[in-house]
Amino acid sequence: MARILITSALPYINGIKHLGNLIGSQLPADLYARYNRGRGNEVMFLCATDEHGTPAELAAAKADQPVAEYCADMHKVQTDIADRFGLSFDHFGRSSSPQNHKLTQQFASKLADAGLITEVSDRQVYSNADGRFLPDRYVEGTCPNCGHDGARGDQCEECTKQLDPTDLINPRSAISGSTDLEVRETKHLFLRQSAMRDQLDQWIDSKTDWPVLTTSIAKKWLHDGDGLQDRGITRDLDWGVPVKKGDADWPGMEGKVFYVWFDAPIEYIAATGEWAEANGKSDADWERWWRTDKGADDVKYVQFMGKDNVPFHTLSFPATILGSGEPWKMVDHLKSFNYLNYDGGQFSTSKGRGVFMDQALEILPADYWRWWLLSHAPESSDSEFTWENFQQSVNKDLADVLGNFVSRITKFCRSKFGEAVPEGGEYGEQEQALIAELTTRIRAYEGHMEAMEVRKSAQELRAIWVAGNEYLQSAAPWSTFKTDPEKAATQVRMGLNLIRLYAVLSAPFIPTASASMLSAMNTLDTSWPDDVAEALSALPVGHDFTVPDVLFAKITDDQREEWQQRFSGKRD
Ligand code: 2FM
Ligand code: ZN
Repeated sequence: MARILITSALPYINGIKHLGNLIGSQLPADLYARYNRGRGNEVMFLCATDEHGTPAELAAAKADQPVAEYCADMHKVQTDIADRFGLSFDHFGRSSSPQNHKLTQQFASKLADAGLITEVSDRQVYSNADGRFLPDRYVEGTCPNCGHDGARGDQCEECTKQLDPTDLINPRSAISGSTDLEVRETKHLFLRQSAMRDQLDQWIDSKTDWPVLTTSIAKKWLHDGDGLQDRGITRDLDWGVPVKKGDADWPGMEGKVFYVWFDAPIEYIAATGEWAEANGKSDADWERWWRTDKGADDVKYVQFMGKDNVPFHTLSFPATILGSGEPWKMVDHLKSFNYLNYDGGQFSTSKGRGVFMDQALEILPADYWRWWLLSHAPESSDSEFTWENFQQSVNKDLADVLGNFVSRITKFCRSKFGEAVPEGGEYGEQEQALIAELTTRIRAYEGHMEAMEVRKSAQELRAIWVAGNEYLQSAAPWSTFKTDPEKAATQVRMGLNLIRLYAVLSAPFIPTASASMLSAMNTLDTSWPDDVAEALSALPVGHDFTVPDVLFAKITDDQREEWQQRFSGKRD
């Protein structure tokens, strides 16, 4: 049994995520977690809300709530939606947890002891009207690169250039709109990433099996010198992890907090501590996932994220870990995704464009979305959601191919043999051919799943469903029955066993439908088909079943048009 540690990039706390965010990390991570559990591996799957930084403070101000209260409320909202989407986290934590405060302060202390933190006198924007410093997104203005007027102090959304607040032309406060700003000197801590360039370079070179998308981004930042400049890891904000050296005060840093991108990835580790506390486990129980001196040597650690997060996970976070000099488990495989676009444009949280997770579940159950998103995952390039394509996939793959198969065979059996697996004879030539084809396909499916090739896995799964349909079509038990009822019974027995097999194989993609199929087949046997012939005899003769409700309803043209219309503008 292998031990697999899986983390998904942490969604910012500021609001409900759209489907582009979902397919960019949480959903493929869930697919991989479910697959590994299905194979009998020991899995620890973690995610959390990313609660610090200016996005959280600005969203709380907009909602007219104290930031701690806003984060607590939004964490509940995000937990509930994740649950309804079937995201099977072992723990969904919070980066504001006491565990993360403690670990973040400990990492900073180790880095300081190793001489990797320097104090720098930095120039920051100060607002006289607001009586405070304005880091990152607290300043808006005109982008010096493209002239876009709504650029934010951390990045221009229009041309994607990374910015500092002092770069903006005609800057104004995002809190009050005031232009009465000045640049003041303030002291900050910088992480000496540049001192770790060779170590990081070697570490990335050792990762020969990483996707090109991941290594090319890492290398670009490493060698352009752009990403590996020393980075400010503190901010003049109230909300965040207070700057301390372990438990001790850090002279000169009073009233400051760590930068959100310093503490957020540390939360991957802290979330495991939260999991331990929530489940009455000991420190040793979480440390065996993370400390190579305490049992994590044989753990395989996989991270999932969108491409914009790659630099932080290939450079900044590894710099934190390597620099600490402590034996923390580092990532083994980093799976990154391109962007999903929406109907001829981009999904956008700030513009409210696209379908958001709560809205998606208002119109259709999670499995419909899971199937479309995963089978169209933006792996080799950006991909696009269109309502036409969504309708077509759901109607063809889920309703016609899988749903119809299940309905046809169970209804036919009920009408001719009753609601129990009929006897018939041994499997014949046609069944043996099907077993051979499925064996090849299932081994290919396993290969794609293990390689985290999401689209290829979906294609193979669909081909597995199609093979069953083709078998049924050509065996045609409804015709066979007229001349050879015993042979028809054999064919039906195969069909019912295929339903159980499909439930097991499909569970990582469509867990709810899979559970309905298992429940209709009246079985708890979810064993993986290592031997396909055996798996197709798992339901014995005489085993009771029921005809399930329709698994997947087709999307009508009227529905498609209504939804297209409804989601064309800004969300309310
Ligand atoms: O880009 C984002 O949505 C970030 N909140 C991801 C953080 S991932 C991790 F490092 F915490
Ligand atoms: Zn710009």
